[in-house]
Amino acid sequence: MQAWVIGNWKQNPATSHDVNALLDDLLTAIEATEQANSEVTARCQLMVAPSFIHLTAVSARLKGTSVLCAAQDISAHSASVGAYTGDCSAQQIADAGATWTILGHSERRQYHQESYDSLLQKVTHALMQDLGVVFCIGETQAQYDDQQTLEVIDSQLSVIKSLLAQQQELIDSLSTRLIIAYEPVWAIGTGKVPTVAEVSATHQHIKQSVAGVAESLSAITVLYGGSVNADNADIFAADAMIDGALVGGASLKAESFLAIATAFSKGSI
Ligand code: PGA
Repeated sequence: MQAWVIGNWKQNPATSHDVNALLDDLLTAIEATEQANSEVTARCQLMVAPSFIHLTAVSARLKGTSVLCAAQDISAHSASVGAYTGDCSAQQIADAGATWTILGHSERRQYHQESYDSLLQKVTHALMQDLGVVFCIGETQAQYDDQQTLEVIDSQLSVIKSLLAQQQELIDSLSTRLIIAYEPVWAIGTGKVPTVAEVSATHQHIKQSVAGVAESLSAITVLYGGSVNADNADIFAADAMIDGALVGGASLKAESFLAIATAFSKGSI
């Protein structure tokens, strides 16, 4: 199975100049990696998600390369246009050259109070505009301590279940257009990670739940995210339930991002 390593650049880098420098480094590192081992990018699909403001420039530079470009969010209010100050629609994202969007990241859930209803709208809008969706789920530290991880995840996955119940015709497209990213909130940007066994068991649960909604989703890609770096990627990559990584901090350096991709390309054999 092909692995996926996705860089979530969040609100970084600060300037267009720095974005270009990061892309230069990334494309040079990919070329060097491909020369050393052409299997890396064949076995591991790379994607980066810059801020809206850099989306057009980044997707233009990535055109014709093996790296995909994603947005970090889209408007819940309209799939195309409307009086929604500050929003960016799925159509605008697709027009900017992105082919995927991250949705439901815990920072959006926390700082923008993203609800079940708004996420249902966002996923629907993304699919209407043929954007793939990287749907993020995960428990907080308190929920983890209370052993509520699976309950929280089931409740967050209910967005996908509702979507399919309402729009059966989406089932086929979802098998190639939906990725789930399991990111424990307490592991994001903290340097703390769950054990591989914990992540593996949670991923198994996610895969079973999603397959329970639609058999065609039984091969769904489930990524782990939260403090993945060049040093710990190997242990996650070695587990058959972990199909790749959603990477924040370590995606801002081409070297660590490619090291993570190399680890997952070996893990996917
Ligand atoms: P991190 O972020 O790798 O910096 O922990 C992951 C994420 O938020 O997607």
